[in-house]
Amino acid sequence: MHRNSDAPRHVPVLLRRADEILGPALAADGAVYLDCTLGLGGHAEHFLRTYPDIRLVGLDRDTNALKLAGERLSPFADRITLVHTRYDGIADALEEAGLAARGSVSAILMDLGVSSMQLDEADRGFAYSVDAPLDMRMDSTGGLTAADVLNTYGHGDLARVLKNYGDERFAGKIASEVLRRRQKQPFTTSAQLVELLYDTIPAAARRTGGHPAKRTFQALRVEVNRELESLEAAMPAAFDSLAPGGRIVVMSYQSLEDKVVKAEFTKRSASRTPLDLPVELPGMGPEFKILTRGAEKATEQEIEENPRAAPVRMRAAERIAGEETT
Ligand SMILES: C[S@@+](CC[C@H](N)C(=O)[O-])C[C@H]1O[C@@H](n2cnc3c(N)ncnc32)[C@H](O)[C@@H]1O
Repeated sequence: MHRNSDAPRHVPVLLRRADEILGPALAADGAVYLDCTLGLGGHAEHFLRTYPDIRLVGLDRDTNALKLAGERLSPFADRITLVHTRYDGIADALEEAGLAARGSVSAILMDLGVSSMQLDEADRGFAYSVDAPLDMRMDSTGGLTAADVLNTYGHGDLARVLKNYGDERFAGKIASEVLRRRQKQPFTTSAQLVELLYDTIPAAARRTGGHPAKRTFQALRVEVNRELESLEAAMPAAFDSLAPGGRIVVMSYQSLEDKVVKAEFTKRSASRTPLDLPVELPGMGPEFKILTRGAEKATEQEIEENPRAAPVRMRAAERIAGEETT
């Protein structure tokens, strides 16, 4: 099912705040804006309109998103380069766009997770509320599907995925039931999995823990798309690509993502002078200064206007002029 073109487009999350932070870095002549999660191009369109001199390098692993964003951004065709890649391919994507992998970018946005389009397209299998093939790949051109994970993983691996990525209390029990049922009939549709979860998660826990499929679907999505590995590899490359004065904004939607993001922000904003030295060594001060106090959340008003903003945690930083990358 594809989104009706008359349907309203989704509202980009924390757009005004992202503009407040990235704006000063985008106002300079010839600024380069790297959008690591182009999606439907909502943030990108705003920045291209607001800053008429910027150049966009836009990445997404979803070919359908790139196609739709390309159509939306066609009025700016002479200022954009769109690249089909995971965001840990930042260095190659910048080189493909004729830019250096280090020190060439003015502003970066990473708006993590799935897009509203991916959730709306029932046949992608991200939503547990509709019966669809158990796919969940953001990049439909290759890799394991959620059905492959359910039909091939051993008990230990499956339970680990459900526990670590979904924080599912009943991970072991669910994994046992998956292995039992798949012997009779392999998993192909989300309805099969939802039925199993209703049968396996005790009624008392179902009443308190939100929809019983929520945690398992999140866990499978993170596993299928290798979301955390990709993010762990992307964060250093993103920071390295920033020029002096360059700024980065990262929006996470679940605690595991924010943990990875926070670790890189903490590392990059710490002094590199050995702890046992009494004074800061020249050139060994922090490379970045943090621009947000902890992780910023959406305001109540924004959540009311755009419920997708409810779980967002936003962090931002700026490269301190004169500090070299490590
Ligand atoms: C929340 S949406 C971005 C929405 C966008 N900011 C907008 O305004 O339209 C996230 C996008 O990131 C993409 N994505 C998620 N993980 C990715 C990864 N590891 N590499 C590249 N793109 C990724 C998804 O395919 C999706 O299109």
